[in-house]
Amino acid sequence: KKKIPIPDFKELKRQGKKIRMVTAYDYPTAVIIEKTDIEMILVGDSLGMVVLGYDGTVPVTVEDIIHHAKPVVKGAPNTHIVADMPFMSYQVSIEDAIRNAGRLIKESGADSVKLEGGLDYAPTVKAIVKAGIPVMGHIGLTPQTAGSLGGFKVQGKDAKAAQDLIDSAIALEDAGAFAIVLECIPAPLAKIISQKLIIPTIGIGAGVYCDGQVLVTQDMLGLFDRFVPKFVKQYAQIGQLELEAFNKYAEEVALGVFPDDAHSFSMKEEVIKQLEY
Ligand code: KIV
Ligand code: NA
Repeated sequence: KKKIPIPDFKELKRQGKKIRMVTAYDYPTAVIIEKTDIEMILVGDSLGMVVLGYDGTVPVTVEDIIHHAKPVVKGAPNTHIVADMPFMSYQVSIEDAIRNAGRLIKESGADSVKLEGGLDYAPTVKAIVKAGIPVMGHIGLTPQTAGSLGGFKVQGKDAKAAQDLIDSAIALEDAGAFAIVLECIPAPLAKIISQKLIIPTIGIGAGVYCDGQVLVTQDMLGLFDRFVPKFVKQYAQIGQLELEAFNKYAEEVALGVFPDDAHSFSMKEEVIKQLEY
């Protein structure tokens, strides 16, 4: 496996090759993804919900992302790794945004950063790119500001909102973003945006016409059951397997069936005979 250089993402799109991305928040998951053809790993702030147990992504910190990106970088050295910029790590000022993007890259070893926001954040994207850090955009449903959007729901349904998203996508491309996540928007709108841009679109709940797709690993593996959005396909039920395994272990320990001889260490009879007790 070879890490995809930034300029090649455009090339993959040009060739009509789909780009695949999933999230990872730990070493063992990264090691497994590294063995696949999946081109990119996102260390996203969905971390807050699916791993840290928060109600949303807002409390996630730069330190949290660095802490979880480090083992992912170690486990998947030949996969492109994107580190999410947490809420309030890029909103206050452009200087702050550059500094925090720099920290994410320097301290974790990730290859690029991703931030939520459209037209208003194009100058921020431009400044981070100018500082030498590749940036992935993220528009549509932006979980950090889901409250203002009226919750976790489909974005860009009316003409005005759809046009805003088209304009935002173009502004982010012009600002130098190397790819853009389109989250939870109608498939026909994602198709228009994907056709308009030179850089690849990475969809989640945005239909099949995007240049790539991303899913949250815990969602697709059945490891997060607080809710399952319509756009999530569960490719496995790992959570159910874990539940069965823990239950079996608990039962076997209670019954004295585990550990058996195969999982215990023996001692020579003659050694035992020498002991005084
Ligand atoms: O944090 C995350 O998992 C994300 C994806 C939903 C794109 O931003
Ligand atoms: Na995110």
